[in-house]
Amino acid sequence: MAEETNGPAPDADSPVVVVANRLPVDQVTDPDGSTRWQRSPGGLVTALEPFVAGRGGAWVGWSGSAGDAPDPFDSGGMHLVPVELSEEEVDRYYEGFSNASLWPLYHDVVEKPEYHRTWWDTYVQVNKRFADRAAQVAAEGAIVWVHDYQLQLVPALLRQQRPDLTIGFFLHIPFPPYELFTQLPWRSAIVEGLLGADLIGFQMPSAASNFVSLARRLHDLPTKGSSIQYEGRTVTAKAFPISIDVAAFDELASSPEVLARAAEIRKELGKPDKIVLGVDRLDYTKGIGVRLNAFQELLEDGAIEAPSTVFLQVATPSRERVEHYVTMRETIEQQVGHINGLYGSMAGSAVQYFNQSMPREELAAMYRAADVMLVTPYRDGMNLVAKEYVAARGDLGGVLVLSEFAGAAAELRQALLVNPHDIAGVKNQLLRALRMEPVEAAKRMRAMRRYLAKHDLDHWANSFFDQLKAQA
Ligand code: ADP
Ligand code: G6P
Repeated sequence: MAEETNGPAPDADSPVVVVANRLPVDQVTDPDGSTRWQRSPGGLVTALEPFVAGRGGAWVGWSGSAGDAPDPFDSGGMHLVPVELSEEEVDRYYEGFSNASLWPLYHDVVEKPEYHRTWWDTYVQVNKRFADRAAQVAAEGAIVWVHDYQLQLVPALLRQQRPDLTIGFFLHIPFPPYELFTQLPWRSAIVEGLLGADLIGFQMPSAASNFVSLARRLHDLPTKGSSIQYEGRTVTAKAFPISIDVAAFDELASSPEVLARAAEIRKELGKPDKIVLGVDRLDYTKGIGVRLNAFQELLEDGAIEAPSTVFLQVATPSRERVEHYVTMRETIEQQVGHINGLYGSMAGSAVQYFNQSMPREELAAMYRAADVMLVTPYRDGMNLVAKEYVAARGDLGGVLVLSEFAGAAAELRQALLVNPHDIAGVKNQLLRALRMEPVEAAKRMRAMRRYLAKHDLDHWANSFFDQLKAQA
């Protein structure tokens, strides 16, 4: 266990400290009892890891398993500072308040959020621990960048202990409108927690203005544009759409190994005419069922045939003890079985489904092999998978079908946009994508790649930091 101190530790020389619920690596225990580290799931880690590694910063976060935290260690150019969570804290703070109250509430109540006072109390307790840990590792006058919905109280808690710090906060998921947010019994405490930051970043301008309007309507604070006056300070709430390391992904996806693997994937799938691909965390916000329904109906209509058209869906296991996730996994597995029972043949399955996490190289090869990428969330802060697909298509091949309700839709305008609640619309766009002339597909892909080349991870991080430094 790391030794506890009250202020910055003597070796607290990190000028930039990232604080997020998860570390970029997860500690996993193998059946023989040995432990090892593996990459953590989700878009937050995809985006932040190259940023922190490139700057040699510190990262305060949970190791992914309950119990004592390992000692701080250095990995991949980052100083990793694990925070401990007990079994009960994982249950109430992580699975409960973060992922069964806030996650569904912030995603348009796609599933019904549950509110429990014990979950909230533990959320407060764990946020305090993260704030204490960050206060210990940050150097005098450092920049601390707090991330996501699990840690919304940290900015104010940190400011109380370390007024010398410049504090930024970035929300990776959507921020709901006033009418939904105010369901939350602890709504005022969350707003006050966030107002501890100098700069609060959101994925979309609408989310930033939702927050500014909350500060005005709920707390009676003076606001002007993106500025909020609070306790003698100016807090700014603005949109900074997140991105990926586009050049690195492009390079990976055009490496000879990945191209060879892409050809192999096509062969392993029985050389279909068309491959349709879905890549997600297994989450009910992602609209995986919508895609399966659309695919099934097109088979029923005779508009497509299997296995000459095959649907490959890769879904990383996620939040496996939270009830809605357990139910959705069962529903998806039944749906896949049903479609394959009806439309599979000795020649192959209609749907190839993997409930597994894949290495980056394998994902890049799948993106490169896929003729159509289906990204159909009901609501998504950004959706980095959509950006990865575009970054991977240096050959200008492939068509992206993208939900209007993903943050990425505001940027990737040349994708075929769909409303995931409109099954007929999804079917039409999927068919259009499958039948699109290569010249039109290339034109759309080129335009999206041009946009992404400028709006990459560095652009995101630099714009946030420039604004944060201007605030300080
Ligand atoms: P979220 O943050 O909600 O998970 P994003 O689309 O923004 O959604 O980010 C997901 C990240 O996780 C992407 O970088 C994607 O490549 C990665 N990912 C998704 N599915 C898998 C998988 N099956 N195996 C490995 N990585 C995956
Ligand atoms: C999304 C959230 C992240 C989270 C990730 C994976 O990207 O915005 O905060 O880390 O999903 O979810 P998990 O619950 O496994 O950390």
